[in-house]
Amino acid sequence: MYKRKEVKKISNTLDKEIVNLINEQIWLENNASFYYLYLSTQFNMNGYSGISKFFLEQSNEERVHMLKLIEYLLDEDITPQIPNYNYLEDLDEKFNLLNHFENSLMNEKRVTNSIIEIVSKCKEKRDIKTENFMQWFVIEQREEENKFKSIIDDIKIIGNSGSGLFELNKQLSSLPEEE
Ligand code: FEO
Repeated sequence: MYKRKEVKKISNTLDKEIVNLINEQIWLENNASFYYLYLSTQFNMNGYSGISKFFLEQSNEERVHMLKLIEYLLDEDITPQIPNYNYLEDLDEKFNLLNHFENSLMNEKRVTNSIIEIVSKCKEKRDIKTENFMQWFVIEQREEENKFKSIIDDIKIIGNSGSGLFELNKQLSSLPEEE
């Protein structure tokens, strides 16, 4: 009689280390969301309503990123760790247009590194599904970093020019919204 070849069982649950890294990523995205919300209020208070709107949209985007990760874990029947604090305890930034954008770029680089760490772990654990899912974030981070770099370049050219700052504020109020 034909004997069915035994199929090697493959675990369907996510590797613990990968889950931990995704939970850390959830924390980082939430942190970024609150950081940009903070900057949005700072720019508003200093008369830059356009840049304030730009950072509010950034903040909303980061929240969407966090939700994507939460949804991924839920789809895998894993309880995500919801960050239980949001405040940026060590934050001590005096209002400075260029510094805020440079710090935002640094923040994005930190997020990128963390995403690369997840992708590397996925490769090590041969978790193609999560690796595939994370590719969206890899592309997104490239766009985010380039966006901040290009604004920083503009700010350096503008310097203290009032009309330049007026234009920048206007431009950033109407950047196309992303996912
Ligand atoms: Fe979701 Fe800009 O990192």
